[in-house]
Amino acid sequence: MHNNVFIDYYVYDYSDNLYHCNLFYTFWQRQGIKANYWPNFGWMRKPLHEFIQEEAKKRGNIFGIYGIGQRALILNDPKMVREISIKELHKFPIRFGGYMGKTSMVHSLFMMPANDDWKRIRTIVSPAFTSGKLKAMITPINRILDNFVRNLDKHGESGEMFDVKIYTSALTMDVIASCAYGIEVDSISESDHPLVKHAQRILSLDVSITQAICFVMPFFGKLLNLDPFDRKSAKYFDDLTFKIIDERLKMRNQQSKDLIGLMVEQTLNDQSESNEVDKNERKLKGISREEIAGQGIIFFLAGYDTTNVTLCHTIYYLIKHPEWQDKLYDELCAQDSPLDYESLRSLPVLNGVICETLRLKPPLITIQRTAHEDTTLLNTGIKIPAETSIIFHPHIIHRMPEYFPDPESFKPERFIGENSMESSNAYMPFGIGNRLCVGMRFAQNELRAAIAQLILHYRLIPDPNLKLEYFRGNVILSPKQMMIRIAKR
Ligand code: HEM
Repeated sequence: MHNNVFIDYYVYDYSDNLYHCNLFYTFWQRQGIKANYWPNFGWMRKPLHEFIQEEAKKRGNIFGIYGIGQRALILNDPKMVREISIKELHKFPIRFGGYMGKTSMVHSLFMMPANDDWKRIRTIVSPAFTSGKLKAMITPINRILDNFVRNLDKHGESGEMFDVKIYTSALTMDVIASCAYGIEVDSISESDHPLVKHAQRILSLDVSITQAICFVMPFFGKLLNLDPFDRKSAKYFDDLTFKIIDERLKMRNQQSKDLIGLMVEQTLNDQSESNEVDKNERKLKGISREEIAGQGIIFFLAGYDTTNVTLCHTIYYLIKHPEWQDKLYDELCAQDSPLDYESLRSLPVLNGVICETLRLKPPLITIQRTAHEDTTLLNTGIKIPAETSIIFHPHIIHRMPEYFPDPESFKPERFIGENSMESSNAYMPFGIGNRLCVGMRFAQNELRAAIAQLILHYRLIPDPNLKLEYFRGNVILSPKQMMIRIAKR
């Protein structure tokens, strides 16, 4: 088995004792797996979910693909994907085969291979997302939601059509800025705030040439010393994090509420508060400053657009299905206690609507696991050389009728009651196995609170003409805009 896809053109294959002289890539075909003979860049020309849907229709659930110097196996089989993500993660520890550059982002959980360093950092990061910590975050989230609702007032009164994505983007940006960095910003009225500007540069949606080179031709990305993410903006967030770390190290008996502060606290837990260590001698233990900075940026990168597009899609489905909007409004009005973290979690219609939205529109279209050494795929005998990726698509798996009958229909009842499909092997909007989204509960909390406030204050006017258009080539299922009408309740 040879590892280099470049020499796929002319190769001696030990498995069949033959020289192969190929005009095209044939690695997968020689194993009896369907594949194109050349890299297909169709994903750059159209929205990725449309491209993968067309490919899945043509080739089925398992097929091979090639990039320039890369190869991957598309594996839209939930049982196999689960096994790889749990039992076989040690064989497939790398998320991306691409070149990730040199910013602190390479230290982030998302970009790291699942090795001992990843485990160490995940152990420090996870406690920041426990229910006790999330309960405390509802206060800043509610303040930002008040602003969100106030900003919509003029549209509720005028009844004119407007792009609600401008407001959901601002809402999710302000929530991450506050909950990750403790910075209060109103990105609608303070659009020139450096945090907003730098976050937008890091998050820019369309695929840039630099990103395309780093992800599709990682070898050249490294050779040319490119960075897929804006270096200046990454440095801005690094400096912000270092400042917060210095402040928190000096603090005593004051609990942090933001994620960076909570990570710092986690490393200090074993440095007893009662001993007489000088404030300035308190040090981070088990994690470096750069590693904390990397997590901060990834909270923006992994948490901002995913949550934003889920809000937009939930609004979309509530407009298309006014009967569910009415049920949701009735459920919210029937609550006599304040809508806090616990009560929002227990509302069946609210949660059913959000889960079903995430089934039909999982924000991350592609999830990847990459082999770090030559291996075989479970018990199939399929050879997977080192650096080859297994790719699966929640967008395709969530539409398999054997797991979700009548898959194209919006049916929140799938997720309501005892037989909720939330625990189905095939339901994976937040990923699967040990690399499951670390911010899942944070995102669910924010989504529940935002949808509840929106529906309590406004009626979304049904619109049969509402259509979604998506950005091309992006791994996030992101509508370009969401033109809607609302009326004040
Ligand atoms: C609706 C919102 C969100 C969705 C749908 C989502 C989805 C995902 C998915 C699919 C993965 C990959 C999981 C896998 O490989 O199996 C992931 C990983 C991750 N997400 Fe999220 N995410 C959301 C919000 C957030 C938020 C708000 C944060 C942080 C504040 C966050 C932080 C992360 C991180 C750090 C990882 C990498 C985890 C690891 O590899 O250890 N996500 N997310």
